[in-house]
Amino acid sequence: MKNKLLLAATSMVLMACMSKEEILHEQYRVEGLALYQKNCENCHQANGKGFKKLYPALINTNLIKRLSDEQLSKIIKYGVKADAGHEFMPGNNDLQAIEIAEIITYLKDLNGVKEGIVEQRLVKEVIR
Ligand code: HEC
Repeated sequence: MKNKLLLAATSMVLMACMSKEEILHEQYRVEGLALYQKNCENCHQANGKGFKKLYPALINTNLIKRLSDEQLSKIIKYGVKADAGHEFMPGNNDLQAIEIAEIITYLKDLNGVKEGIVEQRLVKEVIR
């Protein structure tokens, strides 16, 4: 509770000197982090570094260059089938387009890619 209040207070101070786009970006990043913690870090770990060969790293790789926002959306929504010999990733059927957009925004941030937010409209085009 105390932490939440502190976070809210800090956010307000920060937001006072940010542009509209920056505020939106920060909201997506913070929501994306919470969703990542809930849905992804079990396997990909809190730091995004993955776990041995079982779960691939989501940072310090060419992930963001290699995969488009559309491809990332599909991976998050539908999961990945296992190739011979390694684990598969389950889909996240319950995640809404906005939540997937927030997670991808967070992942890009984590990888130092600052391109503004991922639009939920784009996510909606590739998942149903
Ligand atoms: C139960 C474990 C598990 C969870 C939970 C999980 N993943 Fe995965 N993820 C995997 C595995 C295993 C792979 C590799 C699958 C393969 O290549 O066969 C993978 C692959 C990926 C890839 C592709 C990586 C690449 O280099 O091509 C991305 C992106 C990804 N996961 C993101 C996420 C995100 C975001 C979440 C949360 C919404 C998530 N994963 C939740 C296990 C998991």
